[in-house]
Amino acid sequence: MNDQPLMPSEVRQKVLSQHREIEQMLSELETGVAQLGTGAVDAGQVKRAAYALRGILELHMKFEEAHLAPAIEEADGFGPERVRHLYSEHADQRKQLDALVDAIRHAGSPDDLASGVAKLAAMLRVDIEEEEREYVTDTLLRDSIIPSDTFGG
Ligand SMILES: [Fe+2]
Ligand SMILES: [Fe+2]
Repeated sequence: MNDQPLMPSEVRQKVLSQHREIEQMLSELETGVAQLGTGAVDAGQVKRAAYALRGILELHMKFEEAHLAPAIEEADGFGPERVRHLYSEHADQRKQLDALVDAIRHAGSPDDLASGVAKLAAMLRVDIEEEEREYVTDTLLRDSIIPSDTFGG
């Protein structure tokens, strides 16, 4: 069910809504960190939330690889290059995320925790912004009425 091809416009909407959810989780993580001193939130909760976010980001990247990659591959002649770029960016992001989430989980002080969360949030916001500028556009992800290969391509 999940692997049925989606229309490019549906891919775009789903990726955008996942990005908004990720941003919401980042804001909640930041709010949590800001409340560390008040006793309302403890370090363990922030660490668990960061770890859970890593899992959600993995699902998000897998969704993009399953649905966004084929859609941008078919968009125009630069498709294969764009797909290679998406995969190489995801590979870098996975490494960075593992390192950042690891640092958060092993943070020994509220300051370390706060700086780890700030780095994670900054990295993800940049990634989301770049991805939306490069790939998740309505020009690339446009539903064509006529399949592109009807007239031999
Ligand atoms: Fe991505
Ligand atoms: Fe994304």
